[in-house]
Amino acid sequence: MSSLQNNIEHLVREKLAVTDAGHDWWHAVRVRNNAMKIAEQEGGDLLVIEVAALIHDLVDDKFFEPEEAIQDVGFFLAEQGLDNDRINQVVEIITTMSFSKELEGLKVTSLESRIVQDADRLDAIGAIGIARAFSYGGHKQREMYNPDIAPVKHADASSYRNNGGHTINHFYEKLLFLKDKMKTAAGRQMAQQRHGFMEAYLEQFYAEWG
Ligand code: ADP
Ligand code: NI
Repeated sequence: MSSLQNNIEHLVREKLAVTDAGHDWWHAVRVRNNAMKIAEQEGGDLLVIEVAALIHDLVDDKFFEPEEAIQDVGFFLAEQGLDNDRINQVVEIITTMSFSKELEGLKVTSLESRIVQDADRLDAIGAIGIARAFSYGGHKQREMYNPDIAPVKHADASSYRNNGGHTINHFYEKLLFLKDKMKTAAGRQMAQQRHGFMEAYLEQFYAEWG
C-alpha cells in the first residue's frame, strides 16, 4: 500500500470516529472494494475512484459542516501530492454523489462519479445495508418499527433528512429505490441480489411481528 493510501486511512479513521458504525472506516473500505470491482468492468481512472471511495464520507452533512470539510479534503489531497486535475475530480465526485443531492435534482455525470455512487449505494442495500440502517437508527435513538407510522414520499432533501421516522420506513423512503437508481451496468447487476435479500428480510420481519 502506498503512503497516499496509508495517510488516507489515518485521516478517515480519525474523522469517522464520530459517526455511527455504518459510516466508519470499514464502510469506506467496502465502498472502495465495490468500486474497484465495478471499475474492472466499466473502466475509469482507478486512482480517482479509489481516493474518492475512501474519503467520500468526510464531507457528509449528517456528520460534518460540508464547506469546511470540502476545503480540508482539498488541502489534504494537495499535501499528499495528488495532481490538481484529480483533486478536482475527487471533490466533484464526493460533493455530488449523495442520495440527498439526487433528491435535489443533481445528476452525476462522469464515469468515475457513477462508479463511486453505485459502490456507496451497494453498501446501503443487502445484508450490510440492513445492518447499517439499524445502526444509524440506533445512533439517532429511533424506533425500529412502528406500524402506526407510514412511510413518507420525500419531495426534497430537507424533508428526507429531517424525517425522524422509524427505521423500517427508511427501506420504503430510500433503500428499496436504489436498485433502479444505479448508474452503471455492473452496479445495477450487483444490486439485484442484494435487493431481493432486503425484500425477503422485510417479509420475515412482518411475519415475526405478527
Ligand atoms: P447519502 O449519503 O447518499 O445522502 P444517506 O445519508 O441518506 O445517503 O444515507 C446513508 C446511509 O445512512 C443509509 O444508507 C443508511 O444506512 C443510513 N441512514 C440514513 N438515513 C437513515 C434513516 N432515516 N434511517 C436509517 N438509516 C439511515
Ligand atoms: Ni457512504
